[in-house]
Amino acid sequence: VTATIHVNTATTANKVSPTLHGVFFEEISHAGEGGLYAELIQNRGFEECRIPAGTTLQNGFLVPDTTRPHFMLEPAKTDWKLEWPLKSDWPAWSMQSTGNNKMSLSLTQSQPLNKATPNNLCVWMQAYDATGKASVVNEGFWGINTVKDHKYHLSFYAHTSADYKGGLTVTLQSKKGAVLASYHFSNVKGKEWRKYTCDLLATADDGEAQFAMSFESAGKVWLDFVSLFPDNTFNNRPNGLRKDIAGLIAGMKPSFIRWPGGCFVEGITIESAPDWKKTIGPVEERPGTFSPWGYWSSDGLGYHEYLQFCEDVHADALYVFNVGVSCEYRSGTYVPESELQPYIQNALDAIEYAIGPVTSTWGRLRAKNGHPKPFPLKYVEIGNEQHGPKYARRYNLFYDAIRAKYPNIVTIASMGIGDVNRHTLDSMKQVQIADEHAYKDANWIFRNTDHFDRYKRGNWDMYVGEYATNAGVGAGNMQAALSDAIYVMSMERNADLVKMSSYAPLLVNENDVDWPVNLIHYTASQSFARISYYAINLLAENKADINIPAKVTIQPKSKETAAFAGGVGLGTWDTQTEFANVKITQNGAVVYSSDFAARPGEWKPIRGNWNYTDSGALAQTAMGEQLLALLAGKSFDNYTITLQARRTGGI
Ligand code: AHR
Repeated sequence: VTATIHVNTATTANKVSPTLHGVFFEEISHAGEGGLYAELIQNRGFEECRIPAGTTLQNGFLVPDTTRPHFMLEPAKTDWKLEWPLKSDWPAWSMQSTGNNKMSLSLTQSQPLNKATPNNLCVWMQAYDATGKASVVNEGFWGINTVKDHKYHLSFYAHTSADYKGGLTVTLQSKKGAVLASYHFSNVKGKEWRKYTCDLLATADDGEAQFAMSFESAGKVWLDFVSLFPDNTFNNRPNGLRKDIAGLIAGMKPSFIRWPGGCFVEGITIESAPDWKKTIGPVEERPGTFSPWGYWSSDGLGYHEYLQFCEDVHADALYVFNVGVSCEYRSGTYVPESELQPYIQNALDAIEYAIGPVTSTWGRLRAKNGHPKPFPLKYVEIGNEQHGPKYARRYNLFYDAIRAKYPNIVTIASMGIGDVNRHTLDSMKQVQIADEHAYKDANWIFRNTDHFDRYKRGNWDMYVGEYATNAGVGAGNMQAALSDAIYVMSMERNADLVKMSSYAPLLVNENDVDWPVNLIHYTASQSFARISYYAINLLAENKADINIPAKVTIQPKSKETAAFAGGVGLGTWDTQTEFANVKITQNGAVVYSSDFAARPGEWKPIRGNWNYTDSGALAQTAMGEQLLALLAGKSFDNYTITLQARRTGGI
């Protein structure tokens, strides 16, 4: 088979978008809490046992509140359940007592540190024995990474009962109790909250350490907001980010960062959906948000810190806000259109906080929080994955308000997974950019390299806000990386349409995996990026500037070569195109042959839907893996690769 590539230099070339590669961050799989955010204490403010607003308990399960039918314009979804109550009222904390110490813990709200975070922990030493230990221990986020010679900045609030007459020792310790760092506060007393701080200097490494507070007297000690940070955050920012994870993100040189979701934006209920205003200001006063992925975020990594991170990595900020709709897969609540004004105002205020003058209400607060200059907010996205006529109407309301006040802010319309919203884009006020999400199976791109070529152009640009090969590839393998790379190349080839993209999900803590395939993995002490990260980066760093139209012809012309041409993206596969066989020879000798031709029963249709997982797909995967194993590390000199496909009918 001879393939000839005809390059048409006379035609105007499409410029590949300089903003093609961005990043999408969502609080999923402990992406922020126990991930990017460098806080080492889990449940530092004792708020994580709170039931998310707008939910009720039924039969020990938490279900969305369905008692306000006027809010439930959609049928209530009750199939999404989360186990509640939790195993403990103080998740991640436990008691350790030895000798004749007798102690108990209780969660109280009697003397709250502030109104927004009412919970605190009462530690009661009913009987104290100095020969033993009376401690509370925090497990961190599946361990605390303690590194020799590094300092850990500790702060906590405490008040005591009158009969507590002692100090308090704080330690970083191994799971077996070996002390790695320690500090003694000689005088902890007073009935009002007082803040205590110290640095803990680690004398040894331990990737799974614990944090302990040991008490020295009978009596009661109330604790709140126990916080511990490493001394080496990204860009050395206080209340900062984990250097290794932030470094991997920065290494992608993202043109923009989309934030904070995803389903996170939508909330498990409309009341518990995130509100950026509750994520700024003193960290002690942030109530936190319940992520629809099943855990609490302290929101220490809040709206201000997010904008700061964008600035630090020279990326434009893309903020996604809630449009009065909770996640369809959880509760599917639509706030009536007549009650949307507070949501619209909230979005306008978020923009004002980011870029408004210091004389404006929210711009002034930004300056007070340490950043008088505007942040690089360039885009806002109107909802996440909403679509259809109901969405189109609310899009218009938000669009008008934003356009009127901030004509330079680029607005993005959500589309859902696939192009489900495409037919409604025309009924929407001018759509600047539409966001299509694309989770594909292992072989999808090989059947659909022309997905964007076939896309009917509209008067808008496309942002592929979430894409990944995430079915049939385990937790992500070489085939996923190849598939992701080809997908990115198909975006490049359609540069007139696709202007922005971001892989999803970006981050995963290996101890709490909410999504099958992710880009950057970590535990408390380690982090690494999957191969797709390097494939995407390779393309981003070597991005073509322009596309020159090209056409490939294949000789001799036959049904088989036509099918092959379809397979390499020059035509379209259809259901009557069957499996491609591969034979590799070197200097005439066969070194590899997929023997599907010898087993005709195994010829399989190539096209399927996005979650196509029948044996045809698996067979293709096996063939791809065999091929990769065979070719790894080999020079390609003198190899001939023959691909064969067959069609059972059609044109
Ligand atoms: O990336 C994981 C989820 O996939 C996002 O929360 C949602 O937007 C999409 O469906």
